Amino acid sequence: MSQVFDAIERSSRSDLAALQLQRLKSTLDSVWHNVAPLRHKFERAGVRPEDLNTLADLARFPFTTKADLRDAYPFGLFAVPRERIARLHASSGTTGKPTVVGYTKADLAVWADVMARSIFAAGGRPGDLLHNTYGYGLFTGGLGFHYGAERLGCTVVPVSGGQTEKQVQLIADFKPRIICCTPSYLLTLADGFAAQGLDPASTSLKLALAGGEPCTREMRAAIEARMNLQVMECYGLSEIIGPGVAMECCETKDGLTIWEDHFYPEIVDPATGEALPDGEFGELVITTLTKEALPMIRYRTRDLTRLLPGTARPMRRLDKFAGRSDDMLIIRGVNVFPSQIEELILKSPVLAPHYVIEVARPQHLDEVDVLVEMRPEADSADARSQAAAELQHHIKSYIGISARVRVVPLASIERSVGKARRVVDRRPR
Ligand code: DLL
Repeated sequence: MSQVFDAIERSSRSDLAALQLQRLKSTLDSVWHNVAPLRHKFERAGVRPEDLNTLADLARFPFTTKADLRDAYPFGLFAVPRERIARLHASSGTTGKPTVVGYTKADLAVWADVMARSIFAAGGRPGDLLHNTYGYGLFTGGLGFHYGAERLGCTVVPVSGGQTEKQVQLIADFKPRIICCTPSYLLTLADGFAAQGLDPASTSLKLALAGGEPCTREMRAAIEARMNLQVMECYGLSEIIGPGVAMECCETKDGLTIWEDHFYPEIVDPATGEALPDGEFGELVITTLTKEALPMIRYRTRDLTRLLPGTARPMRRLDKFAGRSDDMLIIRGVNVFPSQIEELILKSPVLAPHYVIEVARPQHLDEVDVLVEMRPEADSADARSQAAAELQHHIKSYIGISARVRVVPLASIERSVGKARRVVDRRPR
């Protein structure tokens, strides 16, 4: 059995199920008594907390969505008086007001615990030097990793995002073993090392704790090879707690173990909301089991994955995310995930992993442009037109859409400083 940070990680499935049921009941009670908008939803659905007798009964309760949080902006879904909230975070939506989340002192302690557990599971150990590039501030990434790493006993370098040149210098001087980073920012950093004449494969970094955005297997393998380190994936979302919901374990590196003593997962059909059995792909729905300030019942994450049995731990795993249901592009009726195009780009020996997908509808038909850079060592006018033609052909034959591929000059695609923006959709809403 793997080494664990917290004894509960070794709990048997039956002990875990008993704990989940008990915690679910008290979470439903708290929502019923303290969160009026959600109680009204329960009433409209004709359910009360007493209706939950088994874990499967949870499927009778209504979903919570981002719209519920927005309607209750800023504090309307909090289950405790504002004075008991120790910290607020917010995630900026693409439109309108941000989503505001709150934590009691106990919630912050749980968050630090699940983050410490996550870092340990990924291979971090007390005494490790950890360089944290996730943004500090309203985003949950920076402070989430920060307090988890301190709780584990690491030495934390709280750099936050941006200022790549300075980050390169600090990494070269301090020699951290661990970096916390979005996958796309790891690419930016690798370029940053090269720009300063340093070999990105010869740094002190051995372990990257990467998350906050999707990353295909192909992209991960490319980053690992370029930087000569292990990339372990971390998943989370502000509405549930922030990072620390699920983490890949270093013993198996086969999907993300979800910390089921705090977060109860379900997979549903994104179109009908019907619960799906383990092993089937669908939308991840999470119910918090221990959150005081902002308990969430059946929160629709929009993230697409499936539940797999535990390997390194008895707790179940989430498979690699296929994307978000709201990231899916419908191009002339064909469903396309940006990750499908990313996979094809990464398969090319001459294209670089820097790309952006532009969608427009100049007349009545959708048009797609894929802008991508060459690898510097492969760049020449001839190679560009050949690479563009090949990728265009692959997109047509594997995905079934006609895209225009434009190979653009080196460094002309905007580099990520956190979460990368891979799609620019200019079609009228
Ligand atoms: O991104 C929390 C986080 C920070 C997780 C740092 C991991 C590392 P939000 O800004 O609320 O919170 O965005 C959450 O990001 O619903 C997913 O769509 C996406 N996401 C997060 N981790 C992954 C991952 C943070 N490992 C949203 N793979 C989620 C794919 C991810 N998508």
